Amino acid sequence: MSGPGAIQARVEEAAAALRARIEARLGDETPRAAITMGSGLGGLGEEIEDPVRVPYEELPWWPRPTVIGHAGNALIGTLGGRPVLGLSGRVHLYEGGPPDRVAFYVRVAAALGIPALFLSNAAGAIREGWHPGELMLISDHLNLTGTSPLMGPVVGSENRFPDLTFAYDRELRAIVRQTAAELGQTLHEGVYAAMHGPAFETPAEIRMLRTLGADAVGMSTVPEVIAARALGIRCVAVSCLTNYAAGVLDEPLNHEEVLETTKLAQADFQRLVAQSISHFP
Ligand code: HPA
Repeated sequence: MSGPGAIQARVEEAAAALRARIEARLGDETPRAAITMGSGLGGLGEEIEDPVRVPYEELPWWPRPTVIGHAGNALIGTLGGRPVLGLSGRVHLYEGGPPDRVAFYVRVAAALGIPALFLSNAAGAIREGWHPGELMLISDHLNLTGTSPLMGPVVGSENRFPDLTFAYDRELRAIVRQTAAELGQTLHEGVYAAMHGPAFETPAEIRMLRTLGADAVGMSTVPEVIAARALGIRCVAVSCLTNYAAGVLDEPLNHEEVLETTKLAQADFQRLVAQSISHFP
């Protein structure tokens, strides 16, 4: 069985399973935010206090990541003194299956009443003067994946035509910006272009993206933000710039380099997220 009824039923089944684990750890508190840890950024999970770790395979219908650098655990605990749901590992469009797969966890977060989503990813730096190892707060996006997680009939209470004018929440962005300033961290702010992948871009594509106004490029986040906005979840997202985008340097890119560079940015990234969450509404 597939279709909107089936998707909603699966979402509710997964939400019920996760709710039981959340209650065991947090009582009647709802996580203030779900935190999606991007490639190589799962170390943030270790900052979550006294976490209950729920492997994705224990959650019905939950898509399992296939990419190196992505674990597959939900982590329930507190971060920055706030109850959170950490998601270590996500699936990407390029892993196959229908596009709504990548947004499954977002729909579960909505079913659980989680009001905010803090996303992260690894991204290639397009903007001149921005360097691997630096962090970028996403101000807006270009959806160049050619698809949407909302494609098909409307699921549950979702908005058919979600507004994306303020997709990246102004108040939450201000909190993250302010937190970076308090920590003395450089935090760029710019436009993230989402590509379908899994191939990295060509130098010509990167020139195109620069012309279109992109500052960084990656293969995730945007489908999830679109689904979250259709469900009224507030979003904020940080990219870890892991490499110069294709053609910026006269050398090839690879996934190992991406994961290596996330190690350099991990400490800053973890501090930024933990401290920002402590100021979340
Ligand atoms: N392109 C696309 N996705 C990425 C990149 C990139 O250069 N770096 C990390 N994820």
